[in-house]
Amino acid sequence: MTSTTDLSSFAALRVAVVGDLIADRYIHAEPKAVSREAPVMVLRHRSEHLGAGGAANVARNALALGARVRILGAVGRDRHGRELVNILAADGADTEAIQFLDGWDTPTKTRVLAAEARRSPRQVLRLDRDPGAPPPAEWRVELASQVRALAGEVDVLLVSDYAYGTVGRELGAAALSAVATATVVLDPRVSLTHFKAAGEHCGLAAATPNQGELALFAGVPTPSLDCDEALARAAQAVRAELGCRHLLVTRGNRGMALFGADGGNLFVPISGSGEVTDVCGAGDTAAAVFALALAAGTGAPEAMVMANAASGRVVMENGAVVCTPQALVAALEQAPRPRGYSGEADGVAAAQAKLAAVGVGEGPGRVLRNASGGGGA
Ligand SMILES: Nc1ncnc2c1ncn2[C@@H]1O[C@H](COP(=O)(O)OP(=O)(O)OP(=O)(O)O)[C@@H](O)[C@H]1O
Ligand SMILES: [Mg+2]
Repeated sequence: MTSTTDLSSFAALRVAVVGDLIADRYIHAEPKAVSREAPVMVLRHRSEHLGAGGAANVARNALALGARVRILGAVGRDRHGRELVNILAADGADTEAIQFLDGWDTPTKTRVLAAEARRSPRQVLRLDRDPGAPPPAEWRVELASQVRALAGEVDVLLVSDYAYGTVGRELGAAALSAVATATVVLDPRVSLTHFKAAGEHCGLAAATPNQGELALFAGVPTPSLDCDEALARAAQAVRAELGCRHLLVTRGNRGMALFGADGGNLFVPISGSGEVTDVCGAGDTAAAVFALALAAGTGAPEAMVMANAASGRVVMENGAVVCTPQALVAALEQAPRPRGYSGEADGVAAAQAKLAAVGVGEGPGRVLRNASGGGGA
């Protein structure tokens, strides 16, 4: 089956992830009383742990799929920065290029999860510790030259922007210089400006905004993009302006949509049981799986199905988690297939022809077929 072949070929991929590294701190507690000092709940601290967020979570997702991953970015010279780098190194990432910055705080999101014993934890508070400023300009220049030096060394370059200042003009130009030798995918947050090559195709294989980010780039209200037709118009306009081959729009509980330079628009509903525990980091999983699948030679529609299946899997667990190849293969067995919208009367037929051309089958178990048409893992 294609998915199995593709997953095993992920292991041959050399991946670089560059962007904002975030420490996700989780505090587990249980309700104790209502405070007498103020009308708030008092929690009893039980345990805490640190996880990888932002670009660090993208990297962990690529590692979980078997790829060789090196990480470029910065952390503060503080406890969370050290712990984050240790976690990534223990997972097998090459962390040599991670810079410890003096006088700069590691971006840290602390989530307090509360539950009685034997109950599912629920997030009751999030506290962000943000660095007061972007990383220093000299380091950003140094980072850009590190990215340029990756030419020929990596098959995939994943840029993960969480608006902490790592991704800017210098990195944008360096990432575009990598398109000749690598599949470059951008998970944007606030701007596409630095990735536009004036008047031409910038060479990015894909950008993976969520619906809110797309609305920002298109200058339209986010809810207006709940309409598939409006989404397609906005997405194709943004894709054309950026000049990337594919725009994968993640839509939370509405699934995903894919917009190609060939004018093809495909929509897929969410994958999975619908038992959603925590959507945190699902977009990181989507970006990592989509980029690796494209680089492994998977067609973009199938790559979206895989990304959607993996994301639908990670939302079933608490915290930013990863999807293993086994979990992905299992999720793909039930993954929904895309439907097309062309904006014309023959939209469905055109979409079906497009799907047939890329080998997307009819039933849930045959979403991804190989040349012999076999299903199952
Ligand atoms: N409630 C849900 N049920 C099933 N799948 C979901 C749900 N929410 C998200 N997903 C899956 O995760 C994908 C990414 O989610 P989303 O669009 O929220 O990304 P995001 O906003 O970039 O997330 P983050 O920035 O937290 O990583 C969706 O396209 C979908 O496939
Ligand atoms: Mg995101």
